[in-house]
This record gives sequence, C-alpha cells and structure tokens, in this order.
Amino acid sequence: VTSPVASGLPSKTDKAFLSILDGRQLKTPPIWLMRQAGRYLPEYRELRATAKNFLDFCYSPALAAEATLQPIRRFGFDAAILFSDILVIPDAFGQTVTFEAGEGPRLNPLTSAEDIERLPELSLDRLSAVFETIDRVKPQLPPQTAFIGFCGAPWTVASYMIAGRGTPDQAPARLFAYRNPAAFQLLINKLVDASIGYLSEQIRVGVEAVQIFDSWAGILPPSEFQRWSLEPIARIISGVHARHPEARIIAFPRGATTHLPEFIRQTGAQAIGLDTAVDPNWAVKAIPEQVVVQGHLDPLALLAGGRAQSEAVGALLTAYRGRRHIFNLGHGILPETPIDHVAALVEQVRSFEG
Ligand code: CP3
Repeated sequence: VTSPVASGLPSKTDKAFLSILDGRQLKTPPIWLMRQAGRYLPEYRELRATAKNFLDFCYSPALAAEATLQPIRRFGFDAAILFSDILVIPDAFGQTVTFEAGEGPRLNPLTSAEDIERLPELSLDRLSAVFETIDRVKPQLPPQTAFIGFCGAPWTVASYMIAGRGTPDQAPARLFAYRNPAAFQLLINKLVDASIGYLSEQIRVGVEAVQIFDSWAGILPPSEFQRWSLEPIARIISGVHARHPEARIIAFPRGATTHLPEFIRQTGAQAIGLDTAVDPNWAVKAIPEQVVVQGHLDPLALLAGGRAQSEAVGALLTAYRGRRHIFNLGHGILPETPIDHVAALVEQVRSFEG
C-alpha cells in the first residue's frame, strides 16, 4: 500500500497513480510500464494468436479488454493502459494500415499535398470498438487501479502516414515537411483535431488520464520541434482541457532533451514522460516542482535484470525522492524481457519509502 506524506493534499481518490497527478505527494511512487500489455507475456502471445491480425485484435473489444487486464492481474500495476495502437487514427482516416509479422506497420503512404487534402474528417464511429473496450475494462479493474487512454502525437503519427512504415530516422516525413510545409501543416492540423476528439471521447467513456506519445520528437531540429511536436501537443492539451477541464494529461516527447523545460512551459503539461537518456539529477533541477515526472528506467536494464537493474531502479528512486514521480520505463518494454525481472522491479519500487 502506498502511504501518503502527511502534508499532502486531501485525497479525492484511492488510486495512487491519480492522486499523484492530482497534486499529492506519495512516499512510494506508483508504477506502470509503457507497452505493459504485450509480447513479453505468454498469456498475451496466446491471446494474440486467436486474432486474424493485429488491427483486428485491437478492434475486438473482448480481446483488447483482456489484453489490457493481463498485466494488472499478473503484476498489480497502479494503472492499466488501454490496449490499442496509435495507428488506429490513420486507419480511421481511411488509410490502409497493416502489421506484418516481425516487420512492424505498413501504411499506404501519403505522398502529395492532394493525398493530405483528400483525407476526410475523422469519424469517431470507426473507433467505436476502442470505446467499447474502455467500457468493458472499467468494471473489471481493481479499485486501486487507474485507467489510462492514449493517442500518438501528431508528429509521430504523421511520420508513419508519410513514410508508410517505421524508419530509423523518419527521413521521409522530415523531408516532406521541408518541401511541403503548408501541406504538412494541414496534416498536423487534421491530426490535432482528430486527437482532441479521440482523447475527449476516451475520457468521456471512462479513462482517468491520457498519455500523448511523441516517440519521434527527438529526431527534430529545434525549429521543427517547436512547430511539429510542441505546438500541436500544446493545442491538443488546451483542446482537451476545454472539453474536460479536469483531464489529467501526460506528454511523452521522447528525446526532447534540452527542449524539455520549454516544452513544459509552453504546452502546460502537468506530467511529463521522460526517456532513458535524461539525467534525473538534471531533471529535478530543470523541471518545475509542480510537474509530475514519469519514467524512466532503461528497458535494457530491465531486460538484463540482476544488479544492473536494481542499481538503475535504486538510482531513479533516490533521485526523485520528495518529488511527485510515477515509475515507468524510458520507452516501451522489450518483448524479450523476462517476467521475473518485471516482478522484481515492482517489488523494489513498492518497498521504497522515500
Ligand atoms: O502500452 C500498452 O501496453 C498499450 C498498447 C500500445 C501498443 N502500442 C500495442 C502494440 C501502445 C500504447 C502503443 C503505442 C505505439 N504504437 C507507439 C508509441 C510508443 C512507442 O513505443 O514508441 C508507436 C510508435 C506505435 C506503432 C507501432 N505499433 C509499431 C512501430 C509497432 C511494431 C513494432 C513492435 O513493437 O512490434 C506496433 C505494434 C504493436 N503495438 C504491438 C503491440 C503490443 C506488437 C504487435 C503484436 O503484438 O503483434
């Protein structure tokens, strides 16, 4: 059980994850892991094998709800994250999206301004299975477990829509944006509007916090970062708050490094997901105290386990002692990660009394 610090604000919730976001200080940080539902779990692999393909799996509420709950049953994380993918948005825009086994996503790439102009307005009807998943998960969650929804940030989603696949450096989208800034801006604007509608609906149906994944923010030079990562996320945060003033929003601009203080200031993010490379001793000084920090254990330390893992976990716990901190990885859990390492992580975090 996570014990509150005496001086904390009065609690409106029993959920440690939510009370941290609501301004409380806890001695023991709540914990969840990015990609906590996934291939490192044997029960996930078994469930996944029952679906025709990955998107079908995401759009089957019974299966997606089960995948959401699996890591909660096994490890008792403080939050469940909706099982879905950031690429349901291009799919809902009518772009062809498939997942090739072992190769990652494939999309029919957008190659011209006309392709972007032609994208219809996003219809939330096409995402009804996602909302039904939320509806099914809610009553099955333990009372102490929070429920997180999410979307990809416009830049990250756009980079897949333009390239049509994962790339090491998102060169196709960066090049497209330099050559066709007006068309790229239009794509970003469409994604901002879609994300506001999508996240707002997730919140209306029942998620208690949302995370915006900008996994590819760190590849952008400063002016492009401002324009394609920071500004669109700022618009999403204010758009969601306009509809749900109490919404709890975590932004994860992976690789934002020296841009982080400015990102937090300009987006108004109340919680920030940090990546593996951030120095926590820098973060405690550079990130304002009222902002919740989430992260940021190296997923490879968790894969390695043993002393490398426990020392890395200990260093993060100590660095954020006295800060509002949500324990997580610096990026998604790797499929090869042994389950015992995850169990040891949860135990170490839960036994910490900062
Ligand atoms: O965190 C969770 O457990 C919830 C579900 C979730 C998935 N993807 C399930 C998934 C979330 C939050 C995501 C986010 C996501 N998807 C991101 C942003 C975060 C990050 O990791 O950078 C991105 C860039 C994607 C796009 C995507 N989806 C890629 C590149 C791939 C293939 C690479 C891979 O890891 O296999 C996916 C597929 C995917 N999404 C899987 C899962 C569990 C694996 C596919 C499978 O099980 O067959």
